[in-house]
Order: sequence, then C-alpha cells, then structure tokens
Amino acid sequence: MKNKSKFMFLTFMIISCYAKSQDRKVGPYNERYRPQFHFSPKEHWTNDPNGMVYFNNTWHLFFQYYPKDIIWGPMHWGHAISKDLMHWDELPIALYPDSLGYIFSGSAVVDSNNTSGFGRDGKTPLVAIFTHHDPKGEKEGKNNFQNESLAYSLDEGNTWTKYKGNPVLKNPGIKDFRDPKVMWYAKEKRWVMTLATLDHITFYSSTNLKEWKKESEFGKEVGAHGGVWECPDLFPLKLNGKTFWVLIVNLNPGGPNGGSATQYFVGEFDGNKFSAIDNNTRWVDYGPDEYAGITWSNTGSRKIFLGWMSNWQYANQVPTEKWRNAMTIPKELGLKQVNGKILLTSNPVRELAGIVRSPVVVNNTLSTGKEVEGIPGQFILKFNVNKINDYSVILSNNVGEKLIIGYNKAKKQYFIDRAKSGKIDFNPEFAKTAYAPRLTNNSSSSDIELVIDVSSVELFADNGLTAMTSIFFPTRSFNHLQIQNSKGAIIKNLKLLPLKSIWKK
Ligand code: FRU
Repeated sequence: MKNKSKFMFLTFMIISCYAKSQDRKVGPYNERYRPQFHFSPKEHWTNDPNGMVYFNNTWHLFFQYYPKDIIWGPMHWGHAISKDLMHWDELPIALYPDSLGYIFSGSAVVDSNNTSGFGRDGKTPLVAIFTHHDPKGEKEGKNNFQNESLAYSLDEGNTWTKYKGNPVLKNPGIKDFRDPKVMWYAKEKRWVMTLATLDHITFYSSTNLKEWKKESEFGKEVGAHGGVWECPDLFPLKLNGKTFWVLIVNLNPGGPNGGSATQYFVGEFDGNKFSAIDNNTRWVDYGPDEYAGITWSNTGSRKIFLGWMSNWQYANQVPTEKWRNAMTIPKELGLKQVNGKILLTSNPVRELAGIVRSPVVVNNTLSTGKEVEGIPGQFILKFNVNKINDYSVILSNNVGEKLIIGYNKAKKQYFIDRAKSGKIDFNPEFAKTAYAPRLTNNSSSSDIELVIDVSSVELFADNGLTAMTSIFFPTRSFNHLQIQNSKGAIIKNLKLLPLKSIWKK
C-alpha cells in the first residue's frame, strides 16, 4: 500500500472504531444521547449550573437537581468536582429542600477573610448564597415566596450547614426575586450581590454576607424583555489594559431563537451602580440551547462560563430516559472591539485540548464535497474560510437524518438546521432552524470551531464572536460528515480532532 492510502485506510479504521463504540448503548454514561465530555448527572433531572467556585485546585459545580425523576421537581443542589474542568466526579447532594422551600439557583464564594464568621479553627469557609423558593407561598398567591439564604462548608464543599438566620435577604414583594450571584468587590472590601428581580437587576452590598443593603437597579428600560430576567452575573474583564464590567442576564422566554437565552451588557461598575456603554441587546450564545450561564468565582482574571445545555421550551420533554439535560462545555470569556463596539467573545477552555485523542484527521481526508464515513460521536471540527461564501457542514446517518450547520453570506448569518435531525416531535418548537449574526467585519477570513458530542453541537465562529449551542437526537448515531462549499467558499486547514470520553477511565 502506498503511504498516502495507508494513512487514509488507517484513519478510516480508527474513526470506524470510534463510531462502533458510539453504538454501544448500555451501562452508565453510555446510554443513547449521553454526552461523552459534557457534564450530566448520572441519573435524573438537572437545570442551571449553581455555586460554581474554584477552591484549592478543585473546580466545584453545583447544579439544580431533582433526584427522584427526569422532570423538574423540588430543587436540590447536586454537586460535582473536577481537577481539569473536563473530568467530573459526582458527589452526594449538597443542599436539600427544607422548611423555607426548594433550593433554587445561586452562587458560592471563598470567604478567605472569614467575614461571615462561619470559619472555625482556621478553616476557610465556602459560602453558598441561594434562593429559597417556598412552593406553599407560591400556591397561595403570595408575592414574597423567594428569599435569599446562606449555607457554608468547612470541608471543601463535602458537607454543608444552612445558616440559622436564613433568609438573609427578604423579599420586598417582587414575585421573581432570585438567583443571587455574589462577588468580592476588593476596592471597597465588601461583597456585591447581583440579583434578578423580575424585569431588572438589583445590586446589594454586604460586609459579612448576612446583612444586605440595596445599592441600585439596572435594566428596566434596556436589553431584551421578552420574559423574566434570571441568573445574572457581574464581573470585570480587561481589554487593552482597560477594565470593563460585564453584566450577564439570562432571559426566559425571549431569546433570539425563541425560549431561553443569555444576554449581556458591557459597561462600568463603581461598586454601587452599573451603567451600560450602550443600550443594544447582545447575546452570549445565539443558539437555542445555552441557558442560565454564569461564571466560576475565585478564578482571578480568567473568567470561565458554563451554561445549561437546554431550553425551557422543551427541557422536560427531550427524549433521554435515565437523566435529563447536561451542561455546555466550559468557555473562556474575553472582550473584543469591533466597529467601535465592545463585544464579548467565548471560546472553549484550553483544557479541552487535554481530551483530544490522536490521530487527528486532516484536510486531505476531509476535503470539501467528499462524504466521510465512520466519524466518531465526539470531536472538534476546525477550519478556516478564506473566500467567505455559503458553506455547510452536514452530519448524517444511514437512515437519512441530518444536522446542517452553515453560513449564509447574503444574510451574514450562521445557522443550525435540525429540522430532519431525528426525534423532533416531542415539542413543536424544537425543529426550528436557529440563526446567528456574523459580527466581525473581517471579510477575508473566518475561523470556525464546532464542538460535537453525541447529541449536541457548539459553534464558535470568528474567534468566539458568535457562539451557538444546539442539541439534537438522531435515532442512529451520526456517522457521516460532509462539508459543502456550494458557492465557492474556500475552506482550508480542515481538522477533525476526536475526543476521549470523560466517563471511561
Ligand atoms: C432558571 C431558573 C432559575 C431558578 C431555577 C429553578 O432556569 O428558573 O431562575 O432559580 O431555574 O430551578
């Protein structure tokens, strides 16, 4: 065999083996549709990521969890930890509902100065700040059934004690009063809480996490308001040495492609008040399936974002059986100036490279127009477009189901079309094609990265200026890949990087 065909034969063998392993559907973390490198709980329901904090070289991920069913129910905080942001170990449930209600979303901080007084014997407390949601009060039609509470851990998050003085921030009579994200504002040596309060954000401050003072409000008149504001976040990011503040606000419904989505504002924060640079609505992710995304605390200047990979339109109906829903991959956030505007970028964290499996499949095997068979279930596909015109990446299977991810030059839009991607009839909203704008003004080149994991795709275009996340449910694994450049787009540097499963030791 000549060297080149030997390479192609080998490549084919390797990728078919991956494809075969994809078709094994038994055992934990190996069921049909189970993400292989995204976090999902071993069993049962999850929604928002919560309490994300980096502490003693460990990434903590708590998550909205209902341990008795695969539909939303009385909320607990599940808990998982990771050393590398990729491999997760699920630990026992951290917080259970109690007499004050269910444990809704919130955040966690490292209280290094023991401002809360929860620390003992020199142990640094981890403090969780979350919403207590009282279902009884809700049923009775009250408007103060959501209040903010604390819990702390002195053993690195393994066990948690709820504060006796809960709730620490009482509802002033706003039905939707939830999802506290707390950060240390070093300049004034105090904590700042960013809270979603129906159709705006309210900022509070505290020196001890127990007593909170209202500082200001933001957003009644700006941004998208197609639904309720939820799960906010506030943090600084630098661009060319200058600090800007990013305010993240999740919104449901009212997203750019329907249902749930994450918007953001770039502006200034002086410890009391946030003001946006402009009033435009912008989205962290334009796809239908990134929601409730916020960042890890205690990570220094690195800001790492994680979202829930679903949409309230159909999250309770997606066709998985043992568990329901997963998180996105962790993404590193940055800022970029485009046409005088300061925009947020998101890209897969560098830790993703740690699970790339060799050999990487390159250009000649994947060349445009050619259908490649036997592709793995989980991989990164990267390429660069030099002459920008229409193109599409088609994932398909032997029963004619397909997912199309592409670019439409006339509309200057990326799209993900899942209309024929397999199971779609569990909700009428699911099959819709999602669109996202191309935001850069670079007309000569475009970098595309697709992160594909069995039943999800995350698109990162133009160095993370446009991000789109979408889930899909083919009845057989997608094992064919074709890249079409129908209008003469020049596609270069094609690379397919197979990824390891994080669940296989
Ligand atoms: C967002 C959300 C939060 C709430 C939680 C309840 O998805 O609605 O606002 O705290 O989910 O599970």
